[in-house]
Amino acid sequence: MKKLLYILIAVFLIAQFIRPSKIAEPVNPATDLIAVTKPDAEVAQMLRTSCYDCHSAQPHYPWYFAITPVNWWLNKHIEDGRDDFDASTWASVEGFSRDHQAKEGMEMMEKKEMPIPDYFYLGRHADAKLSEAQYSKLYAYFESLRDGSWDIEKARRKAAGEAK
Ligand code: HEC
Repeated sequence: MKKLLYILIAVFLIAQFIRPSKIAEPVNPATDLIAVTKPDAEVAQMLRTSCYDCHSAQPHYPWYFAITPVNWWLNKHIEDGRDDFDASTWASVEGFSRDHQAKEGMEMMEKKEMPIPDYFYLGRHADAKLSEAQYSKLYAYFESLRDGSWDIEKARRKAAGEAK
């Protein structure tokens, strides 16, 4: 029994050397969502506090990011988050992709699905929680970014028989 415990501890300790690398790129003012769209101070603050932790190249890594396997799990959130919506590359992607992200942003705010209800995240980041009024403000902000080009692209893809 004791031997098994030692083995488990050894595996845990060795695993500490296997960790994902952190991303910490400087903000690029030419492509960054806030820098380019220049929302009012309150919206900019909400985006930074409640979204950029997972949806930018300046994610926030809590102290427990030092612990394997928690870090892999957190890293997955950041990777998945940026796959769908990346504030740092906002102005460098195609117009319809921006429009799509804005559309999804509206949907997430309407359903209050973001920030993801995640114990580690919200438990530690009470400041990232959004009030009813803040959700409405962010919804209106994403709505203001829409130009409808995604709907055109979507129709084109459908007509061409392309997937999604
Ligand atoms: C703790 C990390 C985290 C935070 C903070 C966060 N998100 Fe996300 N977000 C994710 C993850 C993970 C996904 C991918 C969801 C999935 O694959 O189910 C995602 C997906 C999305 C999507 C795409 C949804 C879709 O269905 O295409 C949008 C839009 C989005 N988030 C907007 C936001 C906004 C706006 C905020 C701030 C109000 C925010 N997120 C805060 C982790 C986060």
